[in-house]
Amino acid sequence: MRLYVNIDHIATVRQARRTDEPDPVRAAVLAELGGAHGITVHLREDRRHIQDRDVRLLMETVRTGVNLELAASSEILEMACDLKPLQATLVPENRQEVTTEGGLDLANQGHARALAVALDRLKEAGVRTSLFIDPDIQSLERSLELGAEAVELHTGEYANRRGDEKGRELARLAEMARAGRAMGLAVHAGHGLTYENVMPVAAVTHIEELNIGHSIISRSVFVGLEAAVREMSDLLRLAPQMVAEPGRWISPLGF
Ligand code: PXP
Repeated sequence: MRLYVNIDHIATVRQARRTDEPDPVRAAVLAELGGAHGITVHLREDRRHIQDRDVRLLMETVRTGVNLELAASSEILEMACDLKPLQATLVPENRQEVTTEGGLDLANQGHARALAVALDRLKEAGVRTSLFIDPDIQSLERSLELGAEAVELHTGEYANRRGDEKGRELARLAEMARAGRAMGLAVHAGHGLTYENVMPVAAVTHIEELNIGHSIISRSVFVGLEAAVREMSDLLRLAPQMVAEPGRWISPLGF
């Protein structure tokens, strides 16, 4: 299980004052020292947090890999093809939203066409491609048809539910991860994952990568970023054992 740390909110703090600190480039170094397998940034059309300069510098300084999130129809596609991050994840984008609210709308013909074009261009540039989708079979099938190499399953519903409903959302994620893998897609997951809710998702066999941002950056305010990433990384490593033997597992971190 790879941990990609989303550092957008380091830039959110910087942009609150439009100054030069804290610097996401420094944050990426600390996240890598803490055990991140990759660094995720979302370059939004409104540039509300990550800036072009950040992406350019991260491409030169990150030693693991950059996963660039972007909207298919944005001018950022040019930049992605030029900079060639390890991976690009296409996401829906709406200027009014506080954060990405759901998976891509693959049933909309116009969106699907734009996605297919973006996927082709990124693949031509040698960039690994992923689509952020809701965990349902139609979205998996459409992702495959459009030519994606990977999908990122939206875990927001799982994160927001309680009790039995949460259990059902987890089962849905596990089932869709299995189905996606059987179709030949690489399966990633993310959104809304925290230190408290990550373990069952991290134990899902066919999910190979998690993208986590807000919870790690929030914790880093208190314990430092390197420690926050290390703690999350420990949870991911321990998750399969914990879920297999829930009664016997005692969290060394108190979660
Ligand atoms: N995956 C995608 C596609 C996202 O847009 C985001 C948020 O930027 C994340 C994962 C990370 O979500 P969170 O910040 O809730 O961990």
